Amino acid sequence: MEKREKLYEGKAKIIYATDEPDKVIAHYKDAATAFDAVKKATIKGKGVLNNTIASFFFQMLNERGIPTHFIKKLSDREMLIYRVEIIPVEVVVRNIAAGSIVKRLGIPKNTKFEPPLVEFYLKNDELHDPIICEQHIYAMNLAKPEEVAQMKELALKVNEILKEFMEKQGVILVDFKLEFGRKDGKILLADEISPDTCRFWDAKTGESLDKDRFRFDLGDLIEGYKKILEKIEKNQ
Ligand code: C5P
Repeated sequence: MEKREKLYEGKAKIIYATDEPDKVIAHYKDAATAFDAVKKATIKGKGVLNNTIASFFFQMLNERGIPTHFIKKLSDREMLIYRVEIIPVEVVVRNIAAGSIVKRLGIPKNTKFEPPLVEFYLKNDELHDPIICEQHIYAMNLAKPEEVAQMKELALKVNEILKEFMEKQGVILVDFKLEFGRKDGKILLADEISPDTCRFWDAKTGESLDKDRFRFDLGDLIEGYKKILEKIEKNQ
């Protein structure tokens, strides 16, 4: 397998072509962004941590029967993934109220959601990723009803697997964001699962071990991400 030209550069990752048309390489950068990239920084070592953590989670999900784009970890910063057509809908699952739902709806922080909430956001930086409902997805022709049903079902399954696993590591899975893609008519879990895209709270201390450290200056980001990696690596 050979690495070829750059196909796309996002805020946190670069995608490269390979000599195999259905496979691409995701390269994790050290860039950190928050609040629609209004807050930006380069944090040395973040890409290595996120690639390692995301590879671990994807591998675990693949083994548990969740179809994902992940094939294998290639190096510190790179993973081999299937090329997919990304569905421009971000799926957020919430177990506990934090972040935008507290601001938007005035729900007190820490409120437990049982069953968990599943929300959809339009993946569009210019419009600041607005929250949308299922009907908007159909009105804008973003995905078919069967696809939305699958995304919801997969998102809730991922939540059960990750929540239970992290609980055993002494970490509360508060919420997270997923993206899905199409490959050969099938839906695959895509993008990344890392402390950039999940809220993780230390079950004992309540400490944030995720990107909220950067968003709200809660402490050194690398220290928090390393704690997550150390906890999950005990299980390898
Ligand atoms: O900001 P909000 O509270 O809606 O975020 C919910 C979850 O989704 C958080 O874990 C956050 O890190 C993640 N998220 C993300 N990318 C976005 C929006 C939210 O990873 N564009």
